[in-house]
Amino acid sequence: MRAHYAVVGNPIAHSKSPEIHTLFASQTGEDIEYTRLLAPIDDFAGTVKRFVAEGGKGLNVTVPFKFEAFAFATEKTERALSAGAVNTLRFDGDTVLGDNTDGAGLVADITQNLGVSLTGARILMLGAGGAAYGVMLPLLKQNPAMLYVANRTPEKAAALAVAFSSYGKTASSGYDTLEGQYDVVINATSAGLTDSMPAVPAGVFGQGTLALDMVYADKPTAFMCFAAEKGARIRDGFGMLVEQAAESFFVWRGVRPDTAPVFAHFGR
Ligand code: ATR
Repeated sequence: MRAHYAVVGNPIAHSKSPEIHTLFASQTGEDIEYTRLLAPIDDFAGTVKRFVAEGGKGLNVTVPFKFEAFAFATEKTERALSAGAVNTLRFDGDTVLGDNTDGAGLVADITQNLGVSLTGARILMLGAGGAAYGVMLPLLKQNPAMLYVANRTPEKAAALAVAFSSYGKTASSGYDTLEGQYDVVINATSAGLTDSMPAVPAGVFGQGTLALDMVYADKPTAFMCFAAEKGARIRDGFGMLVEQAAESFFVWRGVRPDTAPVFAHFGR
């Protein structure tokens, strides 16, 4: 019988995950079906229980359910625990494994697809919400020289930097006191949703900086345009999306798909 997987969220109609995983399945020969699952805002757990009762093997979890998925899991990986959120569920009998592949996806996109090493790098993280928490541990495991967190509300940046200080060198501030250029600047704020960007000094970008926005759209975000003007190399979150999907596929199937054909399929 075909193993059934899905992406659950609200809204969910525009998710690219079914297309990505269907490409992975045909490439690897894994016999899976992957669909979209719309959960009512107030019934994530009930929706997931019905999916499992019908034989579902695993889920990707997206907005706004990553925290509820964390609570739903009976076992969690280290990267899920550190993120405080789950984007991948795997159902094995009574066990619900909760994992988080967002950070691994981000690191794979930067290091493998772009060929930029994070080891010894000066990384600037903009934002201190759920998106930032989700990727901190995998970034620090690359042994950067510094992972600096800046946020509009500096207290939240400080809390995030302290929470991860045992894994590597972290520090924090608001935007106005940022100094010096960074090798990698990651926009993990939701400012792009309103076509604005965090108020960072232009000097954080330069020739040789990679400026990566974790969101993606048909056109470059305000953050990417600003960084490009200062000479930075820019990247949106599409690569991270494809790579986190590949990591989830591996968690479920034990097979690592090649992502290059997926980029080609989407014209990237
Ligand atoms: P997410 O799960 O997407 O990270 P979140 O937890 O609500 O969402 O966090 C949103 C992040 O984007 C926060 O870091 C927020 O900054 P504050 O903590 O100061 O609120 C940031 N953010 C949202 N809109 C922003 C804007 N217009 N300019 C700068 N930062 C913004």
